[in-house]
Amino acid sequence: MTFATPISFTEDKTVFDYAAWDRIWAGAFDDAPSQNTDAPLWVSKNLPDGSHGIFALADDEVVGFVSVFTDDILHAWIADIAVHSDHQRTGIGKELLRCVTEKFGHLSIKIHAVQEPAQSLCAKAGLTHRTDLTPCARKGAEQGTWQADALAEMGLSVSNDIAPGHKTKVQELLTGAGFQSASAALDASGGLEKFLGSLVTAFLVLDGDEPVAFARVISNNSNAAWLSELCVREDRRCEGIGTALLNDVNRTFASQALYLAAPSSTVAFFEGQEMPPKTKWVKVFHMVPGET
Ligand SMILES: CC(C)(COP(=O)(O)OP(=O)(O)OC[C@H]1O[C@@H](n2cnc3c(N)ncnc32)[C@H](O)[C@@H]1OP(=O)(O)O)[C@@H](O)C(=O)NCCC(=O)NCCS
Repeated sequence: MTFATPISFTEDKTVFDYAAWDRIWAGAFDDAPSQNTDAPLWVSKNLPDGSHGIFALADDEVVGFVSVFTDDILHAWIADIAVHSDHQRTGIGKELLRCVTEKFGHLSIKIHAVQEPAQSLCAKAGLTHRTDLTPCARKGAEQGTWQADALAEMGLSVSNDIAPGHKTKVQELLTGAGFQSASAALDASGGLEKFLGSLVTAFLVLDGDEPVAFARVISNNSNAAWLSELCVREDRRCEGIGTALLNDVNRTFASQALYLAAPSSTVAFFEGQEMPPKTKWVKVFHMVPGET
């Protein structure tokens, strides 16, 4: 791609800092920057090891970026994309997404695309609007209202690990909920460490020693989290286990915004847990591996 002003692209996070982020977002919306540049650890917190950033540079100044959180085996979630208004409509956004689809083309790529022009940009970059998935989200709030012991009150325990002996049961749980690709990824990942990669937090709900529910969240553990799977064993549904598990997920990530792409049958469930649909402004765009 040729740009009127020479633009280069890099994945080197050292070019980026809070001031650049602030300037781009302020510029993206033609707003004044907040001037709050006093955040030296911002990049290591918000784009920690295991997360990815691609940065567009004009004369050594970052003028656009995209951030991606991934489990490296199944999902790549585009958390943010923005281009400074001085450089918009010059192809930078399209090139940033092209870099993402090239780098993560083997994974299932998703984004909550907020309004226009993000939605046409995603379509131009070859992502598909998933009308069957509803974008649900809640903002981060320092003071969550989540209950501390909802699962314990039901006589259940929760572990953030999957003991090797539970692997097959977790796969059955995932398959029973339609998460075939997650089950296959768990199988293919061999060691469980990969399925529970550096940005992943898993929640395994046990009744005694029996896995009855499971959830996985991909997050930078700073400001944004993506709920990739949540499921309850088929014979244990409608007992309140899903609500208690989601409560635990929300409590763990209370200070972070939490996003998901919900199949329509589950939207009411998430809405009841303070994760309402955002369909007025947001559409889920997706690229499946192998799709062009
Ligand atoms: C969305 C955004 C990243 C696009 O970046 P960009 O560099 O301006 O986009 P590009 O120049 O690569 O444009 C690619 C395509 O997006 C669409 N697009 C971009 N800007 C548009 C505009 N102002 N109006 C209509 N369509 C537009 C067009 O389809 C365009 O293709 P075309 O130029 O061949 O018609 C940028 O507008 C932005 O930073 N917006 C504010 C932040 C934001 O909304 N982020 C997304 C949150 S999910």
